[in-house]
Parts: sequence; structure tokens; C-alpha cells
Amino acid sequence: MLFVWVPLVFSSISFLFLFNSDVFNMLTRIYNNRDFLRKAYGINKSSVNLNHTFLLIQKLTNNSPIKEGEMLWETYRDCRKACLEKDKWPYLMKLDNTINSELDVQMENDQNSESQKCLNFSSYSYLNGIRDESLRSFVFEEMKDGGYHFGNHGPRMLGGNNKWLCKLETKLASFLNREKALCFSSGFLACKSAIQAVSSPKDIIFADGKVHESLRDGIRVAKSRGTYVKYFRHNDFDHLYSLLKKHRQTGQNAYIIIESVYSMDGDFTNLPLVKKYADEYECRIILDEAHGIGTLGETGRGIEELQNCVGAAWMIVGSLTKSLSSVGGFIACDTIMYDFCHFFATGTMFSAPMSVPNAIMAYKMIDVIEMNPQWVQETRDTMQLLKTYLLPLQKKHGATIQSDPGSPLVAFILKDFSIDRVLSLSVIMKRKGFYVATVCAPACEIRAPRLRLTAPRGMTEQNIKDFVRHLDETLTETIHFEQENIMKEIGDLLPLIGL
Ligand SMILES: Cc1ncc(COP(=O)(O)O)c(C=O)c1O
Repeated sequence: MLFVWVPLVFSSISFLFLFNSDVFNMLTRIYNNRDFLRKAYGINKSSVNLNHTFLLIQKLTNNSPIKEGEMLWETYRDCRKACLEKDKWPYLMKLDNTINSELDVQMENDQNSESQKCLNFSSYSYLNGIRDESLRSFVFEEMKDGGYHFGNHGPRMLGGNNKWLCKLETKLASFLNREKALCFSSGFLACKSAIQAVSSPKDIIFADGKVHESLRDGIRVAKSRGTYVKYFRHNDFDHLYSLLKKHRQTGQNAYIIIESVYSMDGDFTNLPLVKKYADEYECRIILDEAHGIGTLGETGRGIEELQNCVGAAWMIVGSLTKSLSSVGGFIACDTIMYDFCHFFATGTMFSAPMSVPNAIMAYKMIDVIEMNPQWVQETRDTMQLLKTYLLPLQKKHGATIQSDPGSPLVAFILKDFSIDRVLSLSVIMKRKGFYVATVCAPACEIRAPRLRLTAPRGMTEQNIKDFVRHLDETLTETIHFEQENIMKEIGDLLPLIGL
């Protein structure tokens, strides 16, 4: 049916715009892509989700055959294989020698050759603790002195606690202005467990449309048990308000789930406004501070400090894997919820806690931030340099720099760039000695692939200049990919096929 009326609509519009050759040419190009549209339309019907649709489109653009009813994992496998063959697979690399200013990076394709030295422009260790020799030595010393090994005796209820875990929890709680903190072996587990633990079938959850998969996973668990769930459009607080007005009375307890910094977009939530609405509609705010802790606010205490609303969140969750340069996650809350989560959060009740060296490192890193708040400002300064040098690339290459002032990351959005070009860009940059993370759907909008860029504290102005110069050159070198880009030409039609 679509292919009866699409040409009809185009031909009548073409007639109306006959004297405007630009419009006419555009419509002709779109019309000529009807084969693609037909396939994409078919794809949309058989694909299981956005991720699948995205991968199927990649197969189409690579002229790779699509099998009838092929499953997501098959599509992923075929895409990965095609990308590896064409040397544009920038994922699952080997990164070693993290203590050096240049990482040793090895792509999957290069397993038999020497690794490449790369500056990391996508590191999550915003304050660069991951490269600090004295912090590493401190961890080793304390491990040895305390008689610790790397493992533990399993979930805390039976396997017990240790001194460093308890020290870390006390320090973290006080750093975040909460009575208590409970640590987990990962941020994912902490975020997921928090929602799973607190929500009951009678409750309602309002969540930002771009919250992290860990929170979504918790929301899925809650939903499967009967919790009512409403997502509001990302950072659209009018939408949140209208949903509260319409649905708040549906649930007994209500939770609003947001992040301080959105990790694929570099933008902030508006906590004071969310708090105002939360108070009006008696909701509890669950705030994911994964990227805000150590980076936002004068002393790195996160968005509550930055936006001058300490105590606004009912519960703070997050990761110790970013600024704190460790591995683990946490829930920070009042004593009642802390006791409750010990027993009801499955990620701690049924899973071993974070390891001792990780607890020592996270503890020491908070200590360092408390003693040296200038580290936080230095990180912001380095990020600001990166943004300043990137600025001219926006207009020159049609990119968009998205990042709120003071954000620890930049989403360098390459709207309507072919995915081929974005993937190649990342691979070429690695060969030139710069590690950058490439983000595609479903982690972002299908038409807005991006590089997620950071400039950790300690990155020099010369490093940043070199990086931006190479990025500029690489964007120019890869311009030819655009000519093969079907996505751009049919971009405006994607809504027709439900994307
Ligand atoms: C916003 C957010 N929350 C939670 C997590 C999960 O943290 P972890 O990597 O410690 O599991 C991440 C990870 O990137 C994140 O970006």
C-alpha cells in the first residue's frame, strides 16, 4: 500500500514544485530509493526492535543479503563480520597499559600485529585517577598490609563485610550528604537493584526517555510485577508535568527517575524543577549520578551541588567506574532505605560485593577530591579547551557539539552521516593514535550517530590541538562515504516506516 501512494504523493508534489529544481531533485532522489524503502518497510515488520532495524539497515547499505525472518543475533553477527572485512569495526578492542598517557590499543582485525599507542579521548576516568601512580601504590600497600586478596566470601549477608567496604560506604554517604551508602559490584547492578527493590505493583514510575539501560532494566523488572510505567520525552519537563497530572493518582508511591548527566548526550537534568513537580505530586526522585559525581559542582558533589538543591533526590544511585576510577556502584539514601536495600536489593543480597582493591581505590579517590577540589575545576577546564577547539568543526563538517556548560563529556553528533563513515572515522582515528568511542542506535537516535568525547584532566592543550586537527583531517578524508549514504536521502521519510 505504501508503494502505491508514496510515488503518487511525490509525483504530485514534484508537479507543484516543478520550477524549483532543488526540491525536484531531492524528490527524484527519494523516489529512486523506493527499493530501499520497500526493503526497509519489510524490515520494519519483521525486526524485533530498533536495534534490529538499525542493524538490518546496515546490512542493506552493505549489500549483504537479508534472510527471511532472520533473528537479531544473526543480523548482529553478519554486520560485525561485514564491518571487520571492511576494516570498520571500532568495538571490543583490547586496551592495555592504562597507566601510561598513551594506551596500547589493538583492534580485533589486528590481533597478530603490534598494538597501537593511543591517547584516550573517550575515557570515563574524567579526573584521570586511572593513571595516577601514587593512588595505585596506595591500593597495593593497603592490600598487603591488611592481608587482603582480590576475592571475597560471597554476598554480604552470609559472606560478611570488610573494613574497606565499610570505610568507603561511610565516606561516600558523607560526600553525597546522605545518611548511608550501600555499594555493589557494578553501577549497573546498583541502579537496577534500587528500582527493583523499591517499586511495588501498586506504584507508578515516571522516567526520562533517555535513562541508562541499567535503570531501564530495573524498570522492566518493576513493570513485569505490575508497576505502572510512563516515560517522558528526554528533558521535556512540560511532558513530565502533563504525565504527572494525568497519571499520578494511578499509583500509590510514585518515583521520578532521572540522570544528572546523560551519558550519550552530555546534557543535564533540571533537578530544581523536577523537585518542584515531585513535591507537588508527592513523588520520590531517584537520581543517577554516574557521571556527575566528581565532575559537577564546586567540590564535585554532583548536580545537587551544581544546581543548588542539596537533598532534592530521595535516593542517589550511580557508578564508581567513572570519576572515581574504580569498579562498582552505589545507592545513597537514608538509614531506613539502606537497611531495606540490604535485604531487598537483589544485586547485593544475591551477589558478591565489590572487591577490596576497588573499594580502596574508590575511597582514596573521594579523599583526593575532598583534599584537592581543584582537580574538579581542572577537569572542567580541559573539557572546555576541547569544546573550544572543536567549535570550528561544527560548521565545516556539519557536526553538532552537544554538551551543557561544565559537562564532563561532549556528544559530537554527526547527524545523517552514514554509519559507514562514522565507524570508519573511529577506526582511522585509532590508526592515527587517538581512541574515540563511536555511538550508534539504539544508544542514540538512528539518524544521529556520534562520537562520545572526553578530555580527562591532564590532557595537554597540545594533545587536544593534535586530536582536533586529526579529526578535522579525517572528516575531510572520509567525505566520499557520504555519496554512498542512502540514509541521508531517505532520512525525512524514516518516520513513514516507523523510525
Ligand atoms: C548513567 C549510567 N548509569 C549506570 C551505569 C552503569 O555503571 P557501571 O559501568 O559501573 O556498571 C552507566 C555506565 O556507563 C551509566 O552511564
